[in-house]
Amino acid sequence: MCGIVGYVGNKQAAPVLINGLSKLEYRGYDSAGVAIIEEDILKVSKCKGRLANLEAKLEKAPIKGVVGIGHTRWATHGEPSDLNSHPHSNTKETISVVHNGIIENYIHLREWLTSKGYKFESETDTEVIPHLVDYYYDGNLEAAVMKAVSKMEGSYAIGVVTTYEPGKLVAVRKDSPLVVGVGKGEYFIASDIPAILNYTRDVYFLNDKEFVVMTSEGVKLMSDEGDEIKKDIFHVTWDADAAEKGGYEHFMLKEIHEQPKAIRDTMTSRIALGKDITLDKITITKEQIANIDKIYIVACGTAYHAGVVGKYVIEKLTRIPVEIDIASEFRYRNPIIDKRTLMIVISQSGETADTLAALREAKKSSARVIAITNVVGSSVSREADDVLYTWAGPEIAVASTKAYVTQLIAMYIIALFFAQNKKTVSDEAIEEIKEAMLSLPEKVEEVLTNKEVLQRFASKTYMHKDMFFLGRGLDYAVAMEGSLKLKEISYIHSEAYAAGELKHGPIALIEKGTIVIALATQEELFEKMVSNIKEVKTRGANVLAFAFEGNDTIEKTVDSALYLPRTNEILAPVLSVVPLQLLSYYMSIQKGCDVDKPRNLAKSVTVE
Ligand code: M6R
Repeated sequence: MCGIVGYVGNKQAAPVLINGLSKLEYRGYDSAGVAIIEEDILKVSKCKGRLANLEAKLEKAPIKGVVGIGHTRWATHGEPSDLNSHPHSNTKETISVVHNGIIENYIHLREWLTSKGYKFESETDTEVIPHLVDYYYDGNLEAAVMKAVSKMEGSYAIGVVTTYEPGKLVAVRKDSPLVVGVGKGEYFIASDIPAILNYTRDVYFLNDKEFVVMTSEGVKLMSDEGDEIKKDIFHVTWDADAAEKGGYEHFMLKEIHEQPKAIRDTMTSRIALGKDITLDKITITKEQIANIDKIYIVACGTAYHAGVVGKYVIEKLTRIPVEIDIASEFRYRNPIIDKRTLMIVISQSGETADTLAALREAKKSSARVIAITNVVGSSVSREADDVLYTWAGPEIAVASTKAYVTQLIAMYIIALFFAQNKKTVSDEAIEEIKEAMLSLPEKVEEVLTNKEVLQRFASKTYMHKDMFFLGRGLDYAVAMEGSLKLKEISYIHSEAYAAGELKHGPIALIEKGTIVIALATQEELFEKMVSNIKEVKTRGANVLAFAFEGNDTIEKTVDSALYLPRTNEILAPVLSVVPLQLLSYYMSIQKGCDVDKPRNLAKSVTVE
C-alpha cells in the first residue's frame, strides 16, 4: 500500500524523506519518488522499483531544499512505471502531490479538466489532484486544496507542496491513514509512525477530512470548512528499535520470536489470577452484554483466521451464537443486524478498507462494535464503540505472525470477559483458563526451541507444488492460518480442510508423496483425527503431525511428529500455530523467496 512522508524544517528534506520512506517499505510498494522545493523551483525525482533506485538517482542528481514530499507507490491505476510513480505535478511544474488511496470519480474529473485545457501524462487517478489544485489556486494553497478535495470522491491521504508558497506543505486525509509529526522547528506528515520516529515522538492523528498546514513556524490543523481545530498531541512511547530487525535475518523470524512477549503484553493488566477481567477501553455494560443475541466477527486474511478461533471459543464459553465473516463478503451481503447484534472487527493495521466498510455497515444498523487492533489511533479504533488493543508492537513482515497470536489472546479475553459477566462458566473454570493463559509465553518459548524437525522437513519437501493442512475443531481454524502462511511466503499451493470433509472430495488429490500437515491437539477429536490421517497415509501421503506431549501413539501413523507442551486445549491454537509459521518460514528460505516482502502482497490493504 502506498506510503507518504512529508517534511518542513531546517534539515535537507531528501535524506529525511528517504529515511521515512524506508520505514514504510513494509507496506509494500513498486516505485518511489520525492518532490522538493529547491530555491523556489519544484524538483521531482521518481522511478519504478525499490527505494535504492531512487537513492541512486538522487545521488547522481541531488536535490537541495528543506520542504518536500515523498511517496512509495503500490499500483492501483496504471502499471508500476516511472511515469505513474508519485509525486504528480501540474503542467507548469509548480504544484506537486503525493497520494494514498483511490479517487473514484477521477475519470469524470479528468474529462472535466481536459475540457479546461489540462494535459495528463500518467494513467493514475492521482494526477487529477495537482491539476485541480492548480485550477483552484488563487494565492492560498490550503484554500485551493480544500476546493480540490471537495470535488474528489473516494479515499485519500495527500500531501501538497507548491513553488508559489515555497515554505508550506498542506495535507489532508479521508479513509487513508495520515499522522502529523511535531518536532522542534520541524514538522512531518507520514502514513505511519515509524517513518518519523527518528525525528519526533509527538504526533497528531488526523480524522477524516481534517487538514494540516505546516510551515517552519508551526502546524495548523483545520476542518474542511476552514476552521482551526485544537487537538491533543499523542506521545509515542515505543522505541524506533522495535521496528528494526534486531539481529534476526528477517523481520518475520524476529516477529515469530517476539510472540512470547507480545502475548504477555496483551494479557498485562487484563488477566490476573483471582481478579475479574478488566478492559479499560471497553465500556459495554453487564446489561448490554446480557442483551446480545448474536455476534458477528468480521475481518480479512490472518485476522479472519483469528476470528474463526474466536467463534469456537466465544460460543463455547458464552453460548452466544457467533457468525464469522470475511469483511469483503459481509459488506455486500445485507447481513441481519440490529441493536442486539454485537460486531467484533479484527484488524492488525486498523486500516483495512473492507473491514472498515463492514464496521460502518454494522454501525449504520445500530450494532455495537468492538475493534481488536494493533494500531493506536487507527481508523477502526476511532470508529468502533470499544477497542481492545493487541500489544504486539509494530509488525513489519507482510506475513502476520505476532499480530495473529495476540488476536487469539484478545479473542480469549473477550470470551472470558463475557462469560464472567453472563456467568455461563464457573469462576473455577475461568480461573483455570486464566492460569493456563498466563503460562502461554513460556510454552511458546519452548515451542520455539524445537526447530530441527521443521527445518529437516522443509529441506526435504520445499520443492513440492501442493500441500494439505488438516484438522478438526480449533485445529481446523489453525490449519487455515498455516495454509495461508505457506502460500504467502513460499508460493506453494496449499489447502486447509476440516479433516472430516476429506472423504467428500479432496481425498481424490492424495497420492504417493503428497505432503499433509495434520494437527491433532483436540482430545475429544484425537481418535477421529488419527483415522483421517490413516485415510491419507494408505493413499501414500507423507504426513507431519502436531500433537500434545504424551500423545505419542500418533507416531505409529505418521512420518514425522512434533509435540507441543500441554495446555488447556482451547488455548492450543496459540502453540500449534508457531511451528506452522516456522515451517512456512523455512520453506520460503529454502526456495530463496523474499520472506518479508512476498510478491504481489501489501502489508496494509487500504483499498477495496
Ligand atoms: O491489517 P489487517 O489485520 O486488517 O489485515 C488483514 C489481512 O490483509 C492480513 O491479515 C493478511 O492476510 C496478512 N498478509 C496475512 O499474513
